[in-house]
Amino acid sequence: MAASAASFLSSPPPSSLQGLFFLLITTSVCFFLYSFSSIKLDNIHHQEDLIHPPKAILPLQQPHLHNHPFISQALDLQVNAVLPEKEVTAASKTPLPTEKRNHESVGSHNDDKIYDAFHDRALFTEEYARMKKRMKIYAYPHSKNEAFANVLLPEDSEPGGNYASESYFKKALFKSHFLTNDPSEADLFYLPFSIASLRHDKRVGVGGIKTYVKNYIRDISQTYPFWNRTGGADHFYVACHSVGRTAMEKAVQVKLNAIQVVCSSSYFLAGYVSHKDASIPQIWPRKGPRPTRPPSHRRNLAFYAGAMNSRVRESLVKTWGNDSEISVHRARLKTPYSESLLRSKFCIHAKGFEVNTARIGDALYYGCVPVVLADHYDLPYADILNWESFSVVLSASDITIMKRVLLEMVGSGEYLRLQENVVRVQKHFQWHSVPVDYDAFYMVMYELWLRKSHVNINI
Ligand SMILES: *[C@@H]1O[C@H](CO)[C@@H](O)[C@H](O)[C@H]1NC(C)=O
Ligand SMILES: *[C@@H]1O[C@H](CO)[C@@H](O)[C@H](O)[C@H]1NC(C)=O
Repeated sequence: MAASAASFLSSPPPSSLQGLFFLLITTSVCFFLYSFSSIKLDNIHHQEDLIHPPKAILPLQQPHLHNHPFISQALDLQVNAVLPEKEVTAASKTPLPTEKRNHESVGSHNDDKIYDAFHDRALFTEEYARMKKRMKIYAYPHSKNEAFANVLLPEDSEPGGNYASESYFKKALFKSHFLTNDPSEADLFYLPFSIASLRHDKRVGVGGIKTYVKNYIRDISQTYPFWNRTGGADHFYVACHSVGRTAMEKAVQVKLNAIQVVCSSSYFLAGYVSHKDASIPQIWPRKGPRPTRPPSHRRNLAFYAGAMNSRVRESLVKTWGNDSEISVHRARLKTPYSESLLRSKFCIHAKGFEVNTARIGDALYYGCVPVVLADHYDLPYADILNWESFSVVLSASDITIMKRVLLEMVGSGEYLRLQENVVRVQKHFQWHSVPVDYDAFYMVMYELWLRKSHVNINI
């Protein structure tokens, strides 16, 4: 945005015709932004309705769905559903797009590219090295004696549970070489408050988080010159719990300008701005050696178990509850969870209250290909990793054709390629207290690196 405005400014003065053209463009852009923001506002109050978002905006939000060979076929099938039975059967016998693709480009460079887990591996490798060498972070300093040291400093114990990502990030950052004591060499400024700790702190609690954050920003902006320089645009915080999504409501500049690194990253959340903010994976940490199971020993087609707190989950159980190959359950099972994930080819993540849960991380950990049924989830590292190379992203309205899509993937060998990539990306979804190359910490740093270059302090 800033760059294009700048180039407009530096170009020669427009002639009257150019001026008219400029006016036209500006007006249409404004109109587009206005319509989009109204859609967004409308939807804030109907989170649950988002499971079936207005048809007209779906393709805009998820254009990649149509590019996926299976999904595009799935979408065609939906259209075909209104045709007589015979037509649908005929459609199901047409050769699969993947078979065609394999035939055309087996072993070619192009083929490798389609199945690479990275959008652009060469670019990633080069930029990652630059990031590791140059990136500097200034964390606002706090001492152990402060009243809110528990919220502002890394915790001593090993992070655990559902929201561990937040604590792991802070621990890892403080042990990394990225921290600097010299704010003049910092690329980014870290706001170290922990939303999860504030939530548990009796002095603050869920109700007090917004005011705490407001006061924190007021304090640092009065004590230091850095916040006012950019309105917070070179600042970031990390939060995994979903209460974080409303935590910035009394600190609007954070919402508008800072980089919010969060687990609850939905395109339709009022507090989340895709491209500016970044999605962080929610990961339930596990200890010890990672259990493995080859694809040939995964006899169950697909697995899901969890609370029935959304329409997507209800629909999933209603549709596949009695299926012999897809195993979906209304609650956690008595048998070990890990065994269910190890014996399944695909593991389903269905949206609950939020688009995110630790289920995708669980699936990847146990080598199970994730099936994502969470419309408008801005998936972690989506600008770095190609999710179509290691997962199946379906629209919640595709639940009825899910089995056919998955069986075709198994039949065509697509499943094996996805599973291989699952194993390859596992390391990016793993936290360590002392960061390890390419782990979740370094991936988040890379997301920040991609975003920090947009900030330009001309003061
Ligand atoms: C930053 O701006 C705020 C609000 O205008 C002001 O109260 C504060 O003193 C400024 N901070 C500094 C360091 O000048
Ligand atoms: C599954 O089976 C049970 C018991 O036979 C039946 O009550 C239920 O309606 C079935 N559900 C579906 C979706 O077919």
